Amino acid sequence: MRSKEVVARELEAVRRRSLDLLEPVPEPDQVRQHSPLMSPLVWDLAHVGNYEEQWLLRAVAGVPATDPRYDDIYDAFRHPRRDRPQLLMLGPREARGYIAGVRSRVLDVLDDVALQPDDPLLDEAFVYGMVVQHEHQHDETMLATLQLRDHRYPHPDEPGPPAAAVGPDDVLVEGGPFVMGTDLEPWAYDNERPAHEVDLAPFRIDVVPVTNRAYLAFVDDGGYDDRRVWAEAGWAWRREAGLEHPEFWAGDGAGGWTRTRFGAVEDLPLDEPVQHVCWYEADAYARWAGKRLPTEAEWEKAASWEPSGRKRRYPWGDDPPGPHHANLGQHRFGPTSAGAYPAGVSPWGCHQLLGDVWEWTASDFTGYPGFASFPYREYSEVFYGAEYKVLRGGSWATHPLAIRTTFRNWDFPIRRQIFAGFRCATDA
Ligand code: AVJ
Ligand code: FE
Repeated sequence: MRSKEVVARELEAVRRRSLDLLEPVPEPDQVRQHSPLMSPLVWDLAHVGNYEEQWLLRAVAGVPATDPRYDDIYDAFRHPRRDRPQLLMLGPREARGYIAGVRSRVLDVLDDVALQPDDPLLDEAFVYGMVVQHEHQHDETMLATLQLRDHRYPHPDEPGPPAAAVGPDDVLVEGGPFVMGTDLEPWAYDNERPAHEVDLAPFRIDVVPVTNRAYLAFVDDGGYDDRRVWAEAGWAWRREAGLEHPEFWAGDGAGGWTRTRFGAVEDLPLDEPVQHVCWYEADAYARWAGKRLPTEAEWEKAASWEPSGRKRRYPWGDDPPGPHHANLGQHRFGPTSAGAYPAGVSPWGCHQLLGDVWEWTASDFTGYPGFASFPYREYSEVFYGAEYKVLRGGSWATHPLAIRTTFRNWDFPIRRQIFAGFRCATDA
């Protein structure tokens, strides 16, 4: 049961996170657009407040709009990211005033609202969970913006656990049916529902995500110039965009590589999962390695299904994510070494399925059989189709409340600014 106390605490925690993230950023840099792929940071900030106003004030309690213009300015569908700098958006201080005003009214409404089990919006505080997850997702998006910003961003970096030996390269996942998706998770999105049986052929899947060391072997082997390993559209994009290595890497021409992380240039950490590769790069690497990307069903089975036939909430069991399970929640501003979380291993022996890097899968983003949009089409349904590829598992920047083994993320196959890597699979 998700209580009002939990809701109030999580609303407060995510807001503190959003404001803390922007604290080190000078105001002009909160207003400026750092990449046409991203919103001005101050747009994200007021957008999460406007979303909260629409759902937790208007939908829950019929409270009139603060200002009717805001629904247009902060509507992600009316205004693509590229065009957002032109909007008459609130400045850094006004935005903070606006979202704080919304929040104080939200807490008043929360005091009086009945979390009715017969109202799907309020049952288990669903709509509150949706708003909390939405802000966490935008916090991750803001971090991607901060990584693209050509500037040192100060951050506390908890040392990650050391690399550990992980045994074989891949493991066998038995064939047979498993339950994909969920009807039970109270804060799961519509695209994770309904739970349904999927019968899979046996397959093998990598024990850890592909590391920088492994990916470098692909680069050094001329993988970026080997047309045979690229999908046709991937090859066209690789040429058009001049891709030669993951984003934020730089080679010294003598075999040494660095990567820039939040404005700091570091030696490429070879044991960490590769990140900032697009789907086409992941797909090409897999073919070069004689493998393929897992489908999202394979990924979810490897992450959640016990060989005895029971679904787990998390790869390690049903306990909520703790710091020993996975690298989630922005404690480190980057992935940790492969094998760093032995306590988070899945029943089949896969490491780091949650946290560190989002993992590209072979699958297009579509609705499950029996899908019903809830509570609005623009979260999931409008994105269904062949243009988007599914990512699973969350990254170091993902909050534990916004990730599950059933959680589905999606993006265009050319995108690299998200904190994404991949692991490979093969037919058994
Ligand atoms: C699920 C990450 C693809 O950022 O476009 C944020 C999440 N939806 N606001 C996105 C989202 C509405 C979404 N992703
Ligand atoms: Fe949003």
